[in-house]
Amino acid sequence: MPFFVVDGSKIVESIASMPNMFHYSVDTLVQEVKDIYNMGIRSVLIFGVPQKKDEKGSEALRADGIVQRAVQEIKAKVPEMVVITDVCLCAYTSHGHCGIVDEKGRVINDVSLTHISKMALSHAKSGADIVAPSDMMDGRVSAIRSVLDNDGYEDTAILSYAVKYASCFYGPFRDAVGSAPAFGDRKTYQMDISNVREAVKEICLDVNEGADFIMIKPALPYLDVISKARSRCDLPIVAYQVSGEYSMICASAEKGWIDKDKAMIETLTSIKRAGADLIITYFTKRYAEVVNSYSSRKTK
Ligand code: PBG
Repeated sequence: MPFFVVDGSKIVESIASMPNMFHYSVDTLVQEVKDIYNMGIRSVLIFGVPQKKDEKGSEALRADGIVQRAVQEIKAKVPEMVVITDVCLCAYTSHGHCGIVDEKGRVINDVSLTHISKMALSHAKSGADIVAPSDMMDGRVSAIRSVLDNDGYEDTAILSYAVKYASCFYGPFRDAVGSAPAFGDRKTYQMDISNVREAVKEICLDVNEGADFIMIKPALPYLDVISKARSRCDLPIVAYQVSGEYSMICASAEKGWIDKDKAMIETLTSIKRAGADLIITYFTKRYAEVVNSYSSRKTK
């Protein structure tokens, strides 16, 4: 279950582009995480929405940054919850790109790796069980692995967004975290939507660099890629049903054109059928409610 954490306290603020999703401050987030733990949900993915942004995304690396504090609090109060953190600079940079940008506006891959791996290390130090780099710089899995290992975090796992397409379906998310790029697009580091052979190449690279999980993203428009990944790779395959996939179902249900719960179950089932071992989805809580109501009906 993904969450967006903001500075402040007692905050539970709706996100306009994503119905039933909220910005939480650390205190309210911990309460929500407790609640969903009690519903049977066992892992969360944390995104930070910082107040301050700058050219280099410095807030991302602070030991007392919002994500770092959220992770510490969750691990203190709900220790059994598996905590995954998103590792990427786009929510923290003033230009909204996922890495460091030079004077000509180009994202500089290797310089970005240093920042990305420091960010991952600070999440590990806060207690994250798994770090999930979504920046799409080349070589970041091995850069993060060596920084973590050198500091004694050999047990922190890496969930790599190995195959992340330059998709229009991230739109509602970019509204939620204010990370739309100020210039250009993400096509120099995210993947061409028409290319499937490159997906296999990206998977092999990340496996060789030491990834523990491989993610395909988005999910529904890329079921063929999930299926191919499943047959080519023995690591756990993770699929991310992204914000646009979620919000388009919600919006069409609001208009009365589609049954939301049925569409949720059908899309999640298709992602599972394609070969995903784990699914990241904004429907997680609703799905647990539906499943729990089935099982309580059965036992009555
Ligand atoms: C950060 C990141 C994005 C998403 C996850 N991590 C946005 C992007 O690449 O622009 C998208 C998630 C979603 O749409 O639900 N790079």
